[in-house]
Amino acid sequence: MDPVLRAEELRSLIEHHNYRYHVLDSPEISDSEYDRLFRELVELESAHPELARPDSPTQSVGAPPVAGLTSFRHAVPMLSLDNAFGHDELRAFDDRVRKGLETAEQVEYFAELKFDGASLSLTYVDGVLESAATRGDGTTGEEVTHNAKTVRGIPLRLMQPLPGRIEIRGEVVMLKSVFAEINLAKSERGEQLFANPRNAAAGGLRQLDSRQTAARKLNFFTYGVGLVDLSSGRRLADTQSAGLSRLRDLGFPARSEATVLSGPDQLVAFVDRIQEARASLPFGIDGVVIKVNSLDQQEALGFTARGPRWAIAYKFPAEQAFTTLNRIFAQVGRTGKITPVADLEPVSVGGVTVSRATLHNYEDLSRKDVREGDTVIVQRAGDVIPEVVGPVLEKRPEGALPTPEPTVCPECGAEVARKQAEVDIRCTNLSCPAQIAAKLRHFVGRKMMDIDGMGEKLIDRFLELGILTDLPSIFRLQSRREELVGLERLGELSIDNLLASIEGCKERPLGRFLFALGIPSVGEKGGQDLARELRTLDAVRSADYDTLIAIPNVGPSTASEVQEWFEDPENRRIVDELLALGVAPVEGEAPISDLFAGQTIVFTGKLERFTREAAEAFVAKMGGKSAGSVSKQTAFVVAGPGAGSKLQKAESLGVPVKSEEEFLEMVPEGSL
Ligand code: IVH
Repeated sequence: MDPVLRAEELRSLIEHHNYRYHVLDSPEISDSEYDRLFRELVELESAHPELARPDSPTQSVGAPPVAGLTSFRHAVPMLSLDNAFGHDELRAFDDRVRKGLETAEQVEYFAELKFDGASLSLTYVDGVLESAATRGDGTTGEEVTHNAKTVRGIPLRLMQPLPGRIEIRGEVVMLKSVFAEINLAKSERGEQLFANPRNAAAGGLRQLDSRQTAARKLNFFTYGVGLVDLSSGRRLADTQSAGLSRLRDLGFPARSEATVLSGPDQLVAFVDRIQEARASLPFGIDGVVIKVNSLDQQEALGFTARGPRWAIAYKFPAEQAFTTLNRIFAQVGRTGKITPVADLEPVSVGGVTVSRATLHNYEDLSRKDVREGDTVIVQRAGDVIPEVVGPVLEKRPEGALPTPEPTVCPECGAEVARKQAEVDIRCTNLSCPAQIAAKLRHFVGRKMMDIDGMGEKLIDRFLELGILTDLPSIFRLQSRREELVGLERLGELSIDNLLASIEGCKERPLGRFLFALGIPSVGEKGGQDLARELRTLDAVRSADYDTLIAIPNVGPSTASEVQEWFEDPENRRIVDELLALGVAPVEGEAPISDLFAGQTIVFTGKLERFTREAAEAFVAKMGGKSAGSVSKQTAFVVAGPGAGSKLQKAESLGVPVKSEEEFLEMVPEGSL
């Protein structure tokens, strides 16, 4: 074939597949097929340099460095937005908008994610990318076209003809998965880590060598336009929502969370739903942007000196903060694992006050080189335990020293050991009081045996008095009632409540009991998996490696941990004693139907007719399994109001979605 024609064909094919992948989220070919097309074009262009073109998709790998960045004056200033914190400020925004429009009617809004990255303006002339510029101070930014070409989701040619000039605006972000992957590689090379995806994206855009930008695998999401001067007119569409769907057709990724909403109540519900889905999004967001949907209404409202009157940024609490690290101490966990923990000057992160944060392990600590007295970045995302990301080296006080790894257990003085190929060190003394205390705290936890009235302080006191010595001793408290009632500051009533609560926990489901035992690697879900698949405690206790590894979600290390745990004589004694003292975990029943046999079902959003637990138990009774995340293996998703990312994932994977009503229709009458 004529190389000129083949090159053009390859470019169109690659552009088409880029669009399928980055915009529609629904690739038609495998990564390796894509790579083959791409490589063919690279080879063709290098064999025939006259074929190379500035808008070829091969530009995405980057080019040799430029001498410096030049400044770029924006045709239309890139303004920022007013912020709203909390529901009241959101309602106040709606009031202002209605007053401005002199209407008592509900106003239609378009609500979008507020991407936490770096803003970028892209100018296309007759459908071809002419320039890309950072926001800078809003009036003047920096020209970064060479870098923009390497960003996923920035087409070098639009997918549809568009005569004239148009400026597309959006945000460049680094996906959380990419951030984790790059930081892992950096840490293996002993390099300084990126503090957060936003810095990594913003820094990536300002590289002189665009191959460095390409290596950061950045993504672009659009949220609007700047200057529009098309032969078709000065507007892309009459509403923000229609404009964004036009941009999608032109080849720009836009997120499907964005929605048209009417009136303040829907705004409030939307921001809450997104805040809940925040941790499970593939990239960081710092809020929601609410825009008046009609462009006529936007024009009527106009601007203040700060920004548009027709839009507001509803901000979520920041997930990172700076604070002083006062002290690093060693904490002994229930499996004996010794973890360095940071004692912090209290600081608000992600909406809660944090005064302690994990430093994971001593290897991590020395790699991050965090020291007592440092100013540190603290992070708390979603329900995740707060962690210290790293130090701000410029602020390190003189004389700050690294904290050495302990050679003996800080609690009992026993030797510490490190298993082969493990980063964690452990206290080797099975009767280490700190380990026992941690085991007890875990056992009584809400998601485990859920023993009310047995808080940390009480456990510590009972341990000190020798009243509690191990897990079974909890169930011997009943016979020591008189002694307990005699203790200072413990009334008869609270002791009786505690004893009743201990009695009441004896028949927890097997999955929770397994979780409560504190077997390494067996969490809430792991306990459920073991209980569902093996059904009885006896079967779990005697399961060999091959039986365990055959269980879905159980990997090689969990399988050996479980087997080793039950082989340990001390652990066997504990389980035997618990049973002898009347603990009787409720074992799984055999399914009563094969309605959902071999199927995995995911529930998401709010269910009206039953609780999530009841729904999952019901699926098990019908021979099926329920899972927490959607994959190609999911048979179907049951989505209720407020469903977010799981619903979206199902839609993008083509997994069928049912409403709660539709789900109930599948179920034979009387079986619920
Ligand atoms: S609209 C005049 N929409 O947030 C309206 N901005 O404080 C200008 N951002 O610098 C912005 N996601 O980079 C808009 N969906 C979104 C956004 C968004 C992130 C950034 C943007 C801007 C800043 C505004």
